[in-house]
Amino acid sequence: MNFPPRKLPATRMRRMRHDDFSRRMMRETILTADDFILPVFVHEQKGRAPVPCMPGVERLSIDELLKVAEEALTLGVPVLDLFGVPDPAVKTADGRAAWDEHGIIQRAIRALKSHFPELGVMADQALDPYTTHGQDGIPDTNGYILNDQTIEAIIKQSLSHAAAGVDILSPSDMMDGRIGAVRQALEEHGFIHTRIMSYAAKYASAFYGPFRSAVGSAANLGKGNKATYQMDPANSNEALQEVALDIAEGADMVMIKPGLPYLDVLYRVKAEFGIPTYAYQVSGEYAMLQAAIEKGWLDPDKVILESLLAFKRAGADGILTYYALDAARRLRQQY
Ligand code: PBG
Repeated sequence: MNFPPRKLPATRMRRMRHDDFSRRMMRETILTADDFILPVFVHEQKGRAPVPCMPGVERLSIDELLKVAEEALTLGVPVLDLFGVPDPAVKTADGRAAWDEHGIIQRAIRALKSHFPELGVMADQALDPYTTHGQDGIPDTNGYILNDQTIEAIIKQSLSHAAAGVDILSPSDMMDGRIGAVRQALEEHGFIHTRIMSYAAKYASAFYGPFRSAVGSAANLGKGNKATYQMDPANSNEALQEVALDIAEGADMVMIKPGLPYLDVLYRVKAEFGIPTYAYQVSGEYAMLQAAIEKGWLDPDKVILESLLAFKRAGADGILTYYALDAARRLRQQY
């Protein structure tokens, strides 16, 4: 073998990696509890009930929710995001239980804001937990989800959440024009401080499967799909257009969903618009990690924070994650 004349590298990237102190000196991304938003499922039953395909996640009564809220405050997690698991008996084709002022979410918002006014409370606006067909909106006789009629329903749901005291609305239905319509309704009713985090680029993803079991809409949806309103996973230019529209319509923050498989979209959105941008590490992503952790194939002490750090490196200002409390606890142990 003939080797060429030896030339030693002047730049050795490994020098800075040699010690913990210099790795810390050049670290570009730091995760903190402020980065997390905890999604929670609130049910009508007493106590807690495990969500089978999301090991470690439980549906909570309002009493139990208050305990989780206290833990979030202690750990420094700024926001809880509420999802309702209504009694199946209240489901209708038009999902009207979604704007019942005594509904599960409205009661949960009031309970949280009266016990912990300093904790941020966010709630999801979409009809799927409340409809007999499991769709996010109102269908016509062919099953097509009607855009403008659905917006009227989303406005009622949004106003009832705002009246209960929610801090952040997050419309997740992907109807065209709903951010502008909700914003206008909020202004007209004097809710000038209510923030909107738009599910701006939400894909028709199979990664939502475990969530649909958790809120009890999976059986209602059956073989149905959401492809006429949620985005095609093949597209990312379209995501920029969706985000531009939602910003123009009055969104304060935008969200990309799902998370890890869509970091390219997150990166493009943050680079293009620079506005507060969030990503949702959805139920299927959580289920994948938990399944591998349970089998002993992945190390939870490493993989959970690494997965969350990746979001931040890609440009997220925050992450909706079922690991929020767990990750905040791990960060405390680290420092
Ligand atoms: C409701 C909604 C969904 C999720 C958040 N809000 C499900 C869906 O659109 O079918 C998914 C969250 C998750 O998978 O963790 N529209």
